Amino acid sequence: MPHVALCLAASMDGRIAEAVGGAPAFTSAYDRRKLFRLRAEADLLLVGAGTVRHEKLAPLVRDAELVNQRVAAGRPQHPAVAIVSRSLDLPWQARYFTAAKQRLFVLTERADPDTRALARERNVTLLEAGDDDLFTFGLAALAELGFAHVLAEGGGTLVHALLARDLVDRFYLTLAPLTLGRDTPPLVNGPRLEPAVSFDLHHVNQVGSELHLEYHRR
Ligand SMILES: NC(=O)c1ccc[n+]([C@@H]2O[C@H](COP(=O)([O-])OP(=O)(O)OC[C@H]3O[C@@H](n4cnc5c(N)ncnc54)[C@H](OP(=O)(O)O)[C@@H]3O)[C@@H](O)[C@H]2O)c1
Repeated sequence: MPHVALCLAASMDGRIAEAVGGAPAFTSAYDRRKLFRLRAEADLLLVGAGTVRHEKLAPLVRDAELVNQRVAAGRPQHPAVAIVSRSLDLPWQARYFTAAKQRLFVLTERADPDTRALARERNVTLLEAGDDDLFTFGLAALAELGFAHVLAEGGGTLVHALLARDLVDRFYLTLAPLTLGRDTPPLVNGPRLEPAVSFDLHHVNQVGSELHLEYHRR
């Protein structure tokens, strides 16, 4: 299996966007640079279909120096992206797919022939798990293709699915100094995790009133 790190920013009450269907706008420039650095270190970025539908912008490194370092090391300019989706209800006409700057994968259970054809047209590789667990199958398939370092970017449903399968090695959590309330997307969107997934705090960095926490799986 690949090494899997999560990176998300949350409010003090564990919320990851100001509105359902919105993209988070509450983090600092420092936090965005940290995200670009973590992306630049990764081979592949894992995102949930909910985030793709809401944000409609493929995650890129967006820092010329980091892009140059990747290229100098013989790596593609941007890490590949794998989208997790059961419904395959994705914005196939958006620039995310029509003008992709990186290799794209979609992890799903099964696709119909029309969706397979659409994916081929968009240069998207569909990884179909069939009756296997989508995450276990998908991550193993990606590891076989050489993607050893995965950065999972959320949202909360994806975070829950990864934690529930104990697939998270590291958790980079930005704690932003605000509270958002209940009707906003949560950091871990799913039922109680049994057993709870425990981490050790490895590093803390305070930038203004924002906390940057790095946890490693216990
Ligand atoms: N603050 C941050 O750092 C941060 C980071 C990322 C996202 N966000 C925010 O998070 C929100 C979205 O979060 P979300 O929880 O609604 O969505 P999400 O986690 O991005 O995506 C959920 C979708 O992923 C697919 N999926 C998840 N688990 C699956 C499984 N076990 N099997 C098959 N498919 C599975 C399903 O897609 P289908 O419905 O297509 O089947 C599901 O609807 C947005 O507002 C976004 O802006 C915040």
